[in-house]
Amino acid sequence: MVPPAQGPLGQPHPADPPDRARRPRPAPADVPLPPILGASARMQRLLKLVARVAPTDSTVLILGESGTGKELVARSLHVLSKRSQGPFVAVNVGALPESLIESELFGYARGAFTGAVSDRPGLVEEAHRGTLFLDEIGDMPLAAQVKLLRTLESNEVRRLGENTPRLVDVRVVAATHRDLQALVAEGKFRDDLYYRLNVVQIEMPPLRERAGDVGLLASFFLDRASRRAGRRALRFTPEAEALLGRYDWPGNVRELENAIEHAVAVSEGPVLSAADLPASVRTPRLLTRVAGVAPDDAGADAQGRARGLGRDLDARSLDDVTREHVLRVLSRHDGNASAAARQLGVSRTTLWRMLKRWGVPRDGMRGS
Ligand SMILES: Nc1ncnc2c1ncn2[C@@H]1O[C@H](COP(=O)(O)OP(=O)(O)OP(=O)(O)O)[C@@H](O)[C@H]1O
Ligand SMILES: [Mg+2]
Repeated sequence: MVPPAQGPLGQPHPADPPDRARRPRPAPADVPLPPILGASARMQRLLKLVARVAPTDSTVLILGESGTGKELVARSLHVLSKRSQGPFVAVNVGALPESLIESELFGYARGAFTGAVSDRPGLVEEAHRGTLFLDEIGDMPLAAQVKLLRTLESNEVRRLGENTPRLVDVRVVAATHRDLQALVAEGKFRDDLYYRLNVVQIEMPPLRERAGDVGLLASFFLDRASRRAGRRALRFTPEAEALLGRYDWPGNVRELENAIEHAVAVSEGPVLSAADLPASVRTPRLLTRVAGVAPDDAGADAQGRARGLGRDLDARSLDDVTREHVLRVLSRHDGNASAAARQLGVSRTTLWRMLKRWGVPRDGMRGS
């Protein structure tokens, strides 16, 4: 966006609105940001892209499952930009009640609605000369989408109840774990806004697709957690390491971070064993780990993956479909092969033969 000579049109910019306290605070530019770690080829490419686009004013759309580092990347884009001394205003669109979204984002004039007792700038204005991070953009109601698009195209914001627009200079970074293109197809997200946001797209890979990164992240989080706990030289047993490498991390980097913090908290000696890791990590989730398929009861996190699968639905062979179904049944029975075989109506030998053909390891399965 073009930087305006001064603040909002014809008026001084509201540098310090009186009722700032209940707003999300812009992150101070000098708060150190944790590094974005990643040795895998995909992360290396991603880091190069982040470094390349950060100094530009291009709008960036960050896509990826929960816990993959979308917010970390958004903050890095700000810190590496020429706006780093300006505010970084993060707005979780999904967490704002629909009735408040427009007044929070665009602000309002006194008397614009019942309860508007004073003039108030919105978060877009608060991000002036900085970065506006619109998290969970897929949850934005259509009416607010129209206003946002207008703001992005004109560099102007119009507070509710005001006729005169104010100039704003913001760089927008948006993120979502949802499939925005699918939302566009369903008519829930405006295609013109989608194109306006999708100038540069950064897709965060899930942790299970980042070969080698688990070890790197694990030792970083282990170092940090031990330092914070005032403990030194903690290390994992080989079994614990193997477990970390084998698990599929549906909650991605956040889940790994928390698992290690948990292990450090519960462990006694200097060595962290598999038993110190959370039960969820110790209990195999065959389905996601082996097949990249979400169990049908795995909850919201798995929906993104399930959707990805749906896109390729027509391309799948009978064997793929069989494999998915068999693994789902196995997962539902917690890896109990006898119970799964019974439900599938095949013998255990037949089930084992299928699993062998698909290269599914037996570890973590019961009834072998
Ligand atoms: N590559 C990485 N290197 C180091 N730490 C990371 C990395 N990716 C994520 N993290 C850490 O993992 C945690 C989750 O990251 P973040 O909040 O950015 O994820 P997110 O994609 O925004 O998740 P959600 O969709 O749930 O909001 C944070 O503590 C973040 O610092
Ligand atoms: Mg986030």
